[in-house]
Amino acid sequence: MILQELRVEIEADLTRRIDALKEPKLLREALRYALLGSGKRLRPALTLLCCEAAGGRRDDARSAAAALELIHTFSLVHDDLPAMDDDQLRRGQPTLHVQAGEAMAILAGDAMMCLAFQWITEGTADAKTTSRLAQTLAEATTKMIVGQVYDTVGGFSEQVSRADRLHLIHQHKTAALLRAACRMGGICGGADDTQLQALTGYGEAIGMMFQVVDDLLDVTQTTEHVGKATGKDRQAGKLTSPDVLGPEACRAEVDRLRRDAQAALSGFGESAQPLIELCEYMAVRTK
Ligand code: IPE
Ligand code: IPE
Ligand code: MG
Ligand code: MG
Ligand code: MG
Repeated sequence: MILQELRVEIEADLTRRIDALKEPKLLREALRYALLGSGKRLRPALTLLCCEAAGGRRDDARSAAAALELIHTFSLVHDDLPAMDDDQLRRGQPTLHVQAGEAMAILAGDAMMCLAFQWITEGTADAKTTSRLAQTLAEATTKMIVGQVYDTVGGFSEQVSRADRLHLIHQHKTAALLRAACRMGGICGGADDTQLQALTGYGEAIGMMFQVVDDLLDVTQTTEHVGKATGKDRQAGKLTSPDVLGPEACRAEVDRLRRDAQAALSGFGESAQPLIELCEYMAVRTK
């Protein structure tokens, strides 16, 4: 499976970047702990593959890929904090706030958000590409945070239905970053407008599909298997896909989004085959 090969490359690149940091040891160790836990590396993998689909080289997208994994890991570290989802297990190990204390988890999250933009600006892309990458990542990160506000604090007006709330939560907290991963790969690969639109369509569909699957795993899988606490969304009063749609309709929704994602790539031919394969995996994953 393509993801296994990419994961090795991505983790080697992340390790090299962490080793090169000049920040104090305590912070560096916290970053290493959170970032090099057993993540699936889906977002950086999407960036690398979208770059290749657009005709670029993987190496042109390394900084963008690493930056996405930083933003994603920051979102996980803060998502797990006591004031948020209050989780003790992440990526099969104690959450960063359990391991290193709440202050360090907050600060390491802050550092990851800033380092992401540092890594992009230190990358090899020209100034115009770098600025497009930074803007795309900044917009998506703000959306992710908006989604976390919807999910943890709420603030919807009365008229918004449960189904629309769920859609808004998923679109912001999860799909925005996955969509940006695809767009940023396209930008690194020199995608033209048509290609970029297609990669964005693919990213949007897999992004929405991703959170439906995540919600389903919360009610169908064990904590040991997924490496994070399961069976707690309902108890925490979260608005989730199985709750709003029912499990049957969830599966149908995953199927519909999988087909949408693959249809968006129809203009690419062979170069998009790895993205089709990754989408298949994301639809049936069990962790
Ligand atoms: C979990 O993302 C957070 C959500 C957006 C649901 P992943 O399932 O991609 O987490 P890792 O990176 O593999 O740990
Ligand atoms: C979190 O959604 C999405 C983020 C922005 C981190 P969840 O709260 O469902 O993610 P997990 O299940 O803890 O990974
Ligand atoms: Mg959450
Ligand atoms: Mg959570
Ligand atoms: Mg979840």
